[in-house]
Amino acid sequence: MAISSPSRKPLPIEVRGSARQPLGMSTAQFLRDYWQKRPLLVRNAFPDFVPPIAPEDLAGLACEDGALSRLIRHDEKRDRWQVKTGPLAEADFATTGDANWTLLVQDVDKWDADVAALLEPFAFLPSWRVDDIMVSYAEPGGGVGAHVDQYDVFLLQGLGQRHWAISTDPDAPKDFRLDVELKQLAHFEPTHEWLLEPGDMLYLPPGVPHDGVAFGGACMTFSVGMRAPSQAELIGDLADYLAERLPEEARYTDPDLAPARNAGEIDRSALERLRTALPFATAYNDATLLDWFGQFITRYRLAQNPAPADRPTTPVALDKLLAGGSVFLRHPWSRMAWARTRAGCTLFANGHAYPASAGLAQLLCAEHEFVLDGPLDATERSLLIALLDDGHLVPRKPRRR
Ligand code: SIN
Ligand code: CO
Repeated sequence: MAISSPSRKPLPIEVRGSARQPLGMSTAQFLRDYWQKRPLLVRNAFPDFVPPIAPEDLAGLACEDGALSRLIRHDEKRDRWQVKTGPLAEADFATTGDANWTLLVQDVDKWDADVAALLEPFAFLPSWRVDDIMVSYAEPGGGVGAHVDQYDVFLLQGLGQRHWAISTDPDAPKDFRLDVELKQLAHFEPTHEWLLEPGDMLYLPPGVPHDGVAFGGACMTFSVGMRAPSQAELIGDLADYLAERLPEEARYTDPDLAPARNAGEIDRSALERLRTALPFATAYNDATLLDWFGQFITRYRLAQNPAPADRPTTPVALDKLLAGGSVFLRHPWSRMAWARTRAGCTLFANGHAYPASAGLAQLLCAEHEFVLDGPLDATERSLLIALLDDGHLVPRKPRRR
């Protein structure tokens, strides 16, 4: 029996849809080849599309308390952007003119059952992955500027035409313009451009730079947006969830404690005990756990912090203190610990981490006051300056005999 090898033809970025196949292919094929992987333009995804909401009704909704809306104007000549967040007032639309502005309303599916019905063809996705349908109305030239979204989005053209430009360059720069609150890209070089007609739909996975501009006349776009929690949100919420269910008595314990060899060191045994207390942290390496724990434990149950020094200590001033035999006092509200790292050592003080040497870190944890007489390396000098500046160390002139 002959087995034909799978075709190696490159996947098209543009296909034609139909009432039966809004994605121009089976949903299984779309999920396999495009979902979260590459953009897809579907011409005629929704044949004879009629927008389920009129521009006036969208503007009305933008004025409702609780509706999430934004009115964005672009001054083309000076490349200035102006953003007004809702609830908007009728007066806001009086001065918009007939070009270079757009109105965006999020969660329109929650307010309007006809708009919500647009979600039906997306039922092949888990419903909890769907965020909302955002509807935009724009006059020619209107848009939100080039940007990147963190979520998958299906951009369905509802009314008029929109020019879409996207970049599939994996190395495209993703830095933001600092002068605009819209998180617009500072640089954008399109690799593909299209003019979308009503019923056409552009699918974009997360992270694809794109820019959509209303073309020729009034334009409405329906964005079916997905949601995907960040790992930071997941871990934060899981930690809260677990914490709420743990009894007060379940604590860091050390019944096997041996006399401390080095004052203040978070040593290997402490790290092992920490791993026992945190079974869900197994994925994190020793360096990450130590860095977190050092910061945590030195601010844990600490009622106050030392006040920072009035003036920063210069290297010359430090030399003077050292040469003059000054005594360094550790501030009573300074709580310190330290840990060895691959590169050397980190000193933790009241939730902050400072590069250190093991010798100086240990001295700082062991002594409330000390005099330094030996030579110091660059790390130790920087550490002393930082601790003096942050108020953890207070210099005192040596007592005269
Ligand atoms: C729009 O409808 O103006 C575009 C939304 C987007 O690019 O995410
Ligand atoms: Co976008």
